[in-house]
Amino acid sequence: MNVLVASAEMAPIARVGGMAEAVAGLVRQLRRDGLDVVVALPDYGGVTLADEQRWELPVPSWAAPVTARTGNLDGEGPIVLIESPGSVKPHPYNDDTGQAFHDNDLRFFSFSAGIAALTEQIRPDVLHLNDWHTAATLGLLTDPPPTVFTIHTLAYQGVCSGEWLNRLNRSPELFLWYGATNPLLGAIQLADRVAAVSPNYANEIRTEAHGMGLHHQLSALGDRLEGVINGIDAEEWNPATDPHLIANFAVDNMRGKGANRTALAEAFGLATDGPAQPIIGMVSRLVGQKGIDLAIDAARFLEHLPARLVVLGSGDAAIVDALRGLAARFPDRVGFTNDYDAALSHTIFAGSDLLLMPSRFEPCGLAQMQAMTYGTIPVVTDVGGLRDTVIDADEAPDLGTGFVSRSVDTAGTVDALHRAVRAWRSTNRRSAIRGRGMAIDWSWSGPAGRYREIYRSLAPDHHDISGEMVGDDRDGESEAPDTGDPGQP
Ligand code: GLC
Repeated sequence: MNVLVASAEMAPIARVGGMAEAVAGLVRQLRRDGLDVVVALPDYGGVTLADEQRWELPVPSWAAPVTARTGNLDGEGPIVLIESPGSVKPHPYNDDTGQAFHDNDLRFFSFSAGIAALTEQIRPDVLHLNDWHTAATLGLLTDPPPTVFTIHTLAYQGVCSGEWLNRLNRSPELFLWYGATNPLLGAIQLADRVAAVSPNYANEIRTEAHGMGLHHQLSALGDRLEGVINGIDAEEWNPATDPHLIANFAVDNMRGKGANRTALAEAFGLATDGPAQPIIGMVSRLVGQKGIDLAIDAARFLEHLPARLVVLGSGDAAIVDALRGLAARFPDRVGFTNDYDAALSHTIFAGSDLLLMPSRFEPCGLAQMQAMTYGTIPVVTDVGGLRDTVIDADEAPDLGTGFVSRSVDTAGTVDALHRAVRAWRSTNRRSAIRGRGMAIDWSWSGPAGRYREIYRSLAPDHHDISGEMVGDDRDGESEAPDTGDPGQP
């Protein structure tokens, strides 16, 4: 079975948000499972490949020139970087004020033309596309292989001028959106299977409240749309071996967590006034979706909790300013680093006591899983993948793994934080909640298994790694693994 996976982001080469981690984690696991996976990413510049080869891809003149660079990246396996008009930029999507580049339509349409040409050349058994940046591929391939399209977020659909419809040669009418072109809309209708990144998000997006204008089309997909929860990379996210930590720890030996906590307070210049004040961590893209404004409002109550807050993230300039203001106002209680720093994020997950994620919507969310793995109790809103992964410890005292705000607002966030701090102060409750979270297997092995089943159902005549025919799963009706259910660690 060979699969071509295309995405605008993949860690560590191009990383803006969770999609980069998710794509990297899935690809690694599929390769471990024996699949032959080629990854195509835009060439944003600055990446050196071993054993590099370059060739020009045959694309329509509006997209030309498109060059494929292939080679190996630090033993991660084959990658194709697609250099196309405007692809080389310091950031995948935005300029340094956080504004989208004006030519993102051309950049990602020509990237998609490159993916289409590459697909014609290598004829993979399955083509796996991710988010709108790759979506136009399905309007450019007249005879596509079986295709899976993963929705990491519906918030970005790539809507652009109606002129782009003229460049599509397959079912352009499916991309038509009130006179404009909507790449994501076309792709969800043309893909053989659509995966949303958690079961609850797959349900939510069929409703008007969460479908971002596409709920009718998403509902019409029926069984072609399903939720496949993301995993986290079990090698990268293991507190017992993590090289970024000042001290390693594990569920049966939590002593190291205290040293990480002290190191974290020092790194952010916070008061180190003993264990009585939990540290609340946040690691997030700084965009409206993530409810950072709710966290900022809630921070006004920090003295009453009492607690400290550390935030790591990058994104919208207005949110950056607001966080800077908060940190200036409460210098020994609030720390903020405006960055996407992988090493520091590990320190935050290890050293924090609680992780705050007051998302307005959250297709899956990875930080809550990383937090639980590091014995850090998540405090989340009841949306998307957060509902699938966190159980409220007040509502289910014997099963709880975190605290779930009953409403997406400041009052709900403050209430959930209060309940979390209260539980955290009780040594027994703290270790029970943590222990349950740390025992859950959030690795990619279950979710990648589900993607493999989907691939096999679409390309039934291919041999799996054991050499057996796998045509017995044509309907793809085998049971999804239960990895999304935190009640079944
Ligand atoms: C996006 C979503 C996030 C998800 C990630 C990976 O960043 O906002 O919820 O975890 O993609 O799929």
